[in-house]
Amino acid sequence: MTNPFDSAIGLDPNLVVLGIESSCDETAAAVVVGGREVKSNVVSSQVDLHAAFGGVVPEVAGRAHEQRITAVLAEAMVEAGVEDSDIGAVAATVGPGLIGSLLVGVSAAKALALVWGVPFVGVNHLEAHFHAALLDAPDVEFPLVMVLVSGGHTMLVVLVGPERYRLLGATLDDAAGEAFDKVARFVDLGYPGGPAIDEAARGGDPTAISFPRAMMKDGYDFSFSGLKTAVINHVRANPDVSIPDVAASFQAAVVEVLVEKARRAARDVGATGICLAGGVAANSALRAAVEAACVADGLGCHLPSRSMCTDNAAMVAAAGWYRLQAHGPTGLDVGADPRMAISFLD
Ligand code: KG4
Ligand code: ZN
Repeated sequence: MTNPFDSAIGLDPNLVVLGIESSCDETAAAVVVGGREVKSNVVSSQVDLHAAFGGVVPEVAGRAHEQRITAVLAEAMVEAGVEDSDIGAVAATVGPGLIGSLLVGVSAAKALALVWGVPFVGVNHLEAHFHAALLDAPDVEFPLVMVLVSGGHTMLVVLVGPERYRLLGATLDDAAGEAFDKVARFVDLGYPGGPAIDEAARGGDPTAISFPRAMMKDGYDFSFSGLKTAVINHVRANPDVSIPDVAASFQAAVVEVLVEKARRAARDVGATGICLAGGVAANSALRAAVEAACVADGLGCHLPSRSMCTDNAAMVAAAGWYRLQAHGPTGLDVGADPRMAISFLD
């Protein structure tokens, strides 16, 4: 069996990495040894702060990160039972994300790396999400099809090997999580919308309303904005409609498109399995559908635990360990990059 961690360049299984995540609305720090052994994973969520606004307010997020980062870092170190001198590198998300939020984590990471005399490693948030799936299933064989579904991104990617990714498709408009959040807001289910729709859908009939499955047969790209509009139009035209039925039918439409394309991709590239990553990967209907598809198609099914789906710093530390082994430290002159892209293979 191929272990992705065995092929890392200059592998150091004992290197202790402190990871920091602050790209959006979670202030998080974690200690991970050798890219896979999670010693601590502390997340301070700002959900309550933003709920009143129905979405993340960048200025509020940046200030909250600044107020919480020191305590979160201290908690991660104490929980892991490590001293300053045990840390071999400090990794932080440098992008993509909100600039004011990113800067807090990046500045903290650089300061600690400088004071402790250890490497700083700048990590791409989306690559960190890929590593979350591998952290929970380290003994996987490549290639793998990765479905990354978060509040800001929807991508279908082939993991050719560690640090080697090929982009198959992405959303042309709304991200999957964004569609969940917007639909939930429209039907007054609250914020964040994904978990609220997931919960409401349990009491609904997923076949009650036939919402469109956009671009089902066209390549690997996605489009969720038409689906969101179809839900809004249906609710406006049928004010007495059952909200659980709307939630379940909307969720079924999102899930069917994601799973159909992932299955096709797995067949086309000869993948050994399908992985999920990102906040929407916590969705119970999506997880059940991917599991059923993998059983039917004889594929490995790699579903990160729910705490690994949403933003956390263990995935940043793991990605940082990998990046450090493969590419060396990041210069302290490299800053936060709100629009950072992944370098995909051609
Ligand atoms: O990856 P993430 O924590 O943050 C980034 O966007 O990077 O993803 C957050 C997204 C939100 O849109 C949220 O509504 C969605 O993940 N989400 C879910 C569920 N839990 C979180 N969507 C559907 N079902 C869920 N159970
Ligand atoms: Zn994320």
